[in-house]
Amino acid sequence: MKISKICCIGAGYVGGPTMAVIAQKCPEIKVTVVDINEQRITDWNSDNLNKLPVFEPGLDKVVEEARGRNLFFSINVDKAIEEAEMIFISVNTPTKTYGKGKDMAADLKYIELCARQIAKVAKTDKIVVEKSTLPVRTAQAIKSILSQTGKGVNFQILSNPEFLAEGTAIQDLLNPDRILIGGELNEKGIEAINALVNIYASWVSKDKILTTNVWSSELSKLVANAFLAQRVSSINSISELCESTGADVREVSRAVGMDSRIGSKFLNASVGFGGSCFQKDILNLVYIAKSYGLNEVADYWEQVILMNNHQKSRFASKILSTLYNTVSGKKIAMLGWAFKKDTNDTRESAAIYVADQLLEEKANIAVYDPKVESNRIYADLNYLNSRSEDENSLLVQVHNNSYEACKDAHAIAIMTEWDEFKDCDWQRIYDNMLKPAFIFDGRFLLDREELKKIGFKSFSIGI
Ligand code: NAD
Ligand code: UGA
Repeated sequence: MKISKICCIGAGYVGGPTMAVIAQKCPEIKVTVVDINEQRITDWNSDNLNKLPVFEPGLDKVVEEARGRNLFFSINVDKAIEEAEMIFISVNTPTKTYGKGKDMAADLKYIELCARQIAKVAKTDKIVVEKSTLPVRTAQAIKSILSQTGKGVNFQILSNPEFLAEGTAIQDLLNPDRILIGGELNEKGIEAINALVNIYASWVSKDKILTTNVWSSELSKLVANAFLAQRVSSINSISELCESTGADVREVSRAVGMDSRIGSKFLNASVGFGGSCFQKDILNLVYIAKSYGLNEVADYWEQVILMNNHQKSRFASKILSTLYNTVSGKKIAMLGWAFKKDTNDTRESAAIYVADQLLEEKANIAVYDPKVESNRIYADLNYLNSRSEDENSLLVQVHNNSYEACKDAHAIAIMTEWDEFKDCDWQRIYDNMLKPAFIFDGRFLLDREELKKIGFKSFSIGI
């Protein structure tokens, strides 16, 4: 079966870049990305490529090439569903904030709404692809909704989890380690799997395209994220031990990572992992294990989250204790708000939680991030509900560059490893700060010895 029209429901961090790359690599396929968020669609259609709702290096070029040719962004969800042969569901699957499974299970209401809308609109057979990260056996629920249409329409459900990381999304999409496709292992299912394999095979070599059953595919996505996050929590736990014993966590991670069985990636100690997925997906895994009565399995993975919370909290505590146990009325500059460099995404960013803890101590926080706008920063803090919006506006200032943010500050906290922070004139920043001037590097970004020469009192995670 050859696919000529694709619809993707959800124009977010995954739907937008993923579909842009499919459209770029398969010019013969019409790709329509739809969303209920009108502003997002307007921004995706903006002539000014700097205004795309997702910042990713290289994304603007891909969109520029394909948009209007075979890539379209629209709010007309029904029309796109109706005309497509293949529909990707790429909507958000946040942690539930209510009811059974609160604070743990994935909230599947957006997925279910999509399934119901497809069931309502579809008049011809469709392949429905789960692109969102979903708990094991969600495909069964989608299938059950779709099979109730009574219109004689045939649906095949595939799981095709996305492994891109933000900040490197385009590179990851162009050169993936693997593509994973799960489907029903019968004649119709295999036909659907092959239709999707053929799309990816336009630019990915076939030996990197794995096919399996739906459940294994869904679970593999959760497990991949859990393993990655576990490495970060493992090295972060050792960073605390290094601080107490005088070892240097960078040396430890270098020595450990050179063992080819362990590998060197994802062993950078930090102020804690953030992002929309690690925490959510591990909580989901924990919930699934608990729901099968596998309490030891659940406890094992929950520890990855607990360690991460501890790391964020102890970074904030370190700032407080170093500044003589009082930060009330003191200006603390935070450089970086995004959860990692090269993205404008702030979901679950460690910066939010460190700032929140310091604000509880009545610190004045001055933030600068190259890609995050001030309304996002206030929204992130207000969402936590720790204090009133007025108080947040009073205590938090957002600046347009590092120099302004750091002027007259008592301390600086490096929260995101943006390259531009490395190139700052640190002497000039030091000269304009209150003394003693402290710097807390949560990202190993700066040369500690150089900072000390300038006069900074410098602290890095794990040293
Ligand atoms: P996102 O919040 O950026 O985007 C989701 C979009 O779906 C939003 O724009 C929302 O308006 C839209 N939406 C929700 N319900 C809709 C509906 N009924 N009809 C039309 N549009 C609807 O989320 P994201 O970061 O793109 O993540 C999407 C999924 O992909 C999640 O399951 C996530 O776990 C997974 N994932 C994310 C990443 C990542 O790096 N962000 C990587 C891999 C997998
Ligand atoms: C992660 C996975 O890497 C992707 O494969 C997956 O598709 C995605 O989650 C998802 O499902 O959403 P992402 O969260 O975008 O991607 O970014 P990562 O590079 O994994 O970083 C996550 C967090 O861990 C960041 O805050 C980063 O700073 C932190 N990190 C990462 C460390 O603190 N140390 C490291 O060594 C690596």
